[in-house]
Amino acid sequence: MKYFIRTYGCQMNHSDSERIAGVLELANYEKSSQESDADLIVINMCSVRESAVSRISGNFHKYKKYIITNPNLKTVITGCVLDSDKEKFGELFDLVIDIREIEKLPERLKSMSTNKILPEFKTSQPSLSGGTKSSSSNQKSMIFRKARNDKEKLEIENTYDYFSINPQHESKITAYVPIMTGCNNFCSYCVVPYTRGREKSRMVDEIIDEIAKLIENGYKEIILLGQNVNSYQPDENTNFPKLLRLINDIPGHFWIRFLTSHPKDISEELIKTVALCEKCTEYIHLALQSGDDDILKIMNRKYTAEHFLILVQMIRKNISNVAITTDIIVGFPTETIEQLQNTAEIMKKIKFDMAYINKYSPREGTVSAKMTDNVSWDEKKEREVILNKILKETALENNQKYVGKVVEVLVDKIDGDFIFGKTKSFKSVKIGIINYKSRIKEGEFLKVKITEAEFWNLEGEVVE
Ligand code: SAH
Ligand code: SF4
Ligand code: F3S
Repeated sequence: MKYFIRTYGCQMNHSDSERIAGVLELANYEKSSQESDADLIVINMCSVRESAVSRISGNFHKYKKYIITNPNLKTVITGCVLDSDKEKFGELFDLVIDIREIEKLPERLKSMSTNKILPEFKTSQPSLSGGTKSSSSNQKSMIFRKARNDKEKLEIENTYDYFSINPQHESKITAYVPIMTGCNNFCSYCVVPYTRGREKSRMVDEIIDEIAKLIENGYKEIILLGQNVNSYQPDENTNFPKLLRLINDIPGHFWIRFLTSHPKDISEELIKTVALCEKCTEYIHLALQSGDDDILKIMNRKYTAEHFLILVQMIRKNISNVAITTDIIVGFPTETIEQLQNTAEIMKKIKFDMAYINKYSPREGTVSAKMTDNVSWDEKKEREVILNKILKETALENNQKYVGKVVEVLVDKIDGDFIFGKTKSFKSVKIGIINYKSRIKEGEFLKVKITEAEFWNLEGEVVE
């Protein structure tokens, strides 16, 4: 049986897809390189914007065609699916399954009956992977004490089973490692707290074991994932900076990155830890969303533009050559052109290395969906263009500072006449004309002299 996974959304979903692949391969499924050849298509869904949801319904006719040539084809949808969409997808797909129950996918596929939408957390079943076996029992009992009712206990149980799944990593160099899932912040526009539930932190021992094994197996870059890594707290004595110090102590030459930090929670302790731990990279992703205090307030972001600026100063003071990237939403309900200008001004001051600029999309069930979406789509597009223009200027200005410098680059791909890699600050580097190509391998660290800077990448040559 061959499977194909189509992933939408953020790195968290990409990491989940590696866990889905792990579960399927354990059940003797083989990866198919093409969707059309698969016996099982799994859609790992993102609901953050309406466009992604409509694309999935729109794509479904393709699967209907595949069913004509392969009547045994099964289609499954999982990931961040809103409750209100489950019914609709249940009519299209053979199975709708919660990502925290993904370990049970092979078993559910075998016994698939008429009930296509799985009643989540209805029955607690023994876990295939042994669940939290490696976790210390007092950590676990503390987390269980927090549960308010049986449903929440089962949700926690399922989440820990999900964490302990052995992933099938896409890359041999970079590995995503989830350290927490869920979100308690309820930004007024965002579906994540509804699709992923409340925050749950993974046990320290399990994270350290997983990373130590990855390093033994030659991985060079570990990307720690969580909706808000600063809320990582598996027990009273462990926070995110402590976890970083423990990972930094794992022997070997590798880099540590993490995504994402919420500006209201980022601490001086975290920034000082990143500065002190030699394996932590000079790269911080910190979502601004808006540079206007009134908009930030109705977004429920719980910080001001001034506070964000102070954080950036603190980061730059402590971590030399740090790259700072962000997320921004344009056209939030009631956003005026003056308020957009406040975002433009702060972008000019901060000089981001990258900004993911999103056009506001009202999402059913969120607080802001009750507000009138009064900025037209065309106007949102224009605002996106204004901010992207500033971003291009600051990104180029930042990149030009690299020219003439020698930096460490992790090689992630060798393709044709080029070597591609990343700096510690997460800049893409292209190295051309390579008589040294034959002796350079993917996963190697190189010393590279930067010769040219473009908006989104650098070019360089290997220093002998
Ligand atoms: N936890 C992360 C964000 C995860 S969602 C953080 O707070 O940094 C990723 C991004 O999607 C958000 O930062 C936001 O910019 C964007 N986004 C979320 N909901 C949106 C919506 N309703 N419309 C447009 N963009 C949205
Ligand atoms: Fe969404 Fe806000 Fe949570 Fe980020 S912090 S996942 S934007 S609710
Ligand atoms: Fe989308 Fe879920 Fe990530 S809604 S942005 S895939 S956490």
